[in-house]
Amino acid sequence: MQKSIGKILLGLVLLMTIAAGSYGAWVQRQDQDQDDQDAIIMRNLMRSKLMYSQNIVEGLSLGRFDLIESAADELLRIGNAQQWIPESETELLRIRDEMNATLNRVKSAAERRNLEGAAARYFELTMKCIDCHQTLRKTDF
Ligand code: HEC
Repeated sequence: MQKSIGKILLGLVLLMTIAAGSYGAWVQRQDQDQDDQDAIIMRNLMRSKLMYSQNIVEGLSLGRFDLIESAADELLRIGNAQQWIPESETELLRIRDEMNATLNRVKSAAERRNLEGAAARYFELTMKCIDCHQTLRKTDF
């Protein structure tokens, strides 16, 4: 009798250990899934940034100011929808703000039908992409 209670207790402890272990793994899995999802959303956002930057190049090459304006608008929209930068990352926030300011300058040059001005601003814009990515590589954000 004593022996079987001992076995039951041991069994229970084992079960609880397994349950706790798999719960832990489940929680970790949920976090992992969330991280994966965030990474996918980020990748899609960035891929569309790349696409709209190419639209600006197309607009510059063809003298299509409407293309430049709408691409700058989309990039501004994506930039503003991005709330992923934590308040503590002041350097990234600064670059993001600069990028938005540069986009507004690209747009207003296009509105004034100033092709060279828009091209020069586009170059500045590309520097902001590089700046942020370089900063990200340096930090373990
Ligand atoms: C304020 C910061 C910031 C700016 C500005 C920025 N990016 Fe990104 N970019 C990121 C982050 C964060 C990632 C994700 C890095 C990672 O994979 O961990 C990323 C990744 C990317 C990727 C890789 C996506 C993939 O397939 O994995 C591309 C392409 C990209 N960005 C393009 C651009 C372009 C083009 C611009 C400028 C028009 C730009 N980014 C501006 C923060 C920024």
